[in-house]
Amino acid sequence: MSIKTSLGQCHFVDCVKAMKELETGSFDLCFTDPPYDQPLLDRENPYENYMVNHEWLEEARRVATTVICTPGVNKIYDYPKPTWTLLWLKPGCTTHNITGGFSTWEPLLYYGGNTIYNDSFRTTITKPRGMKHPCARPVSLWLQVLRQLKHPITSILDCFLGSGCTCEAAEFLGIKWLGFEIDETYKEDIVKRMH
Ligand SMILES: C[S@@+](CC[C@H](N)C(=O)[O-])C[C@H]1O[C@@H](n2cnc3c(N)ncnc32)[C@H](O)[C@@H]1O
Repeated sequence: MSIKTSLGQCHFVDCVKAMKELETGSFDLCFTDPPYDQPLLDRENPYENYMVNHEWLEEARRVATTVICTPGVNKIYDYPKPTWTLLWLKPGCTTHNITGGFSTWEPLLYYGGNTIYNDSFRTTITKPRGMKHPCARPVSLWLQVLRQLKHPITSILDCFLGSGCTCEAAEFLGIKWLGFEIDETYKEDIVKRMH
């Protein structure tokens, strides 16, 4: 099953398997939001495998010249050292304590060569309305980041598409896109974002 527009397409598949089919350096950017506590790759043993398995990142870095991802505050030290770390401020979130609630900021890890003119971003909302996905991101964050890249992006990949934040931004800016999402439940959200 897939969703297609004149600029891009989304496939409901495992991203690592799907990325292996893509040519090295075939995308300018992979901008993605990997699952934090959800099963990744090995759904039987999610936490352990998520902590150690960066196969998706290796593939993303092979396929795209630049990779930007949101590791979540707790997982930031499990990632390889990035070229730079960007800051997403989301003061609308309420922090309860260090073990629960939501952080009012998040890191964005930046790997690669494109120059980015700004490294801190702020959004007033954290989750767009009407989305089924529990972790739907505001397109305004993606747009702000994309507009700060020195070299124009002509193709963008999101290997953990979720509700389709990346394809919404790409459609808005007229950039070619490709998305992978393992869970077909989010098809409705993605279609909504396209209209
Ligand atoms: C944090 S969410 C992405 C949210 C997205 N940025 C948005 O705005 O809605 C991560 C997504 O990765 C998907 N996912 C998990 N493992 C995957 C895999 N191996 N291949 C493709 N997608 C996967 C999950 O189903 C989830 O929707």
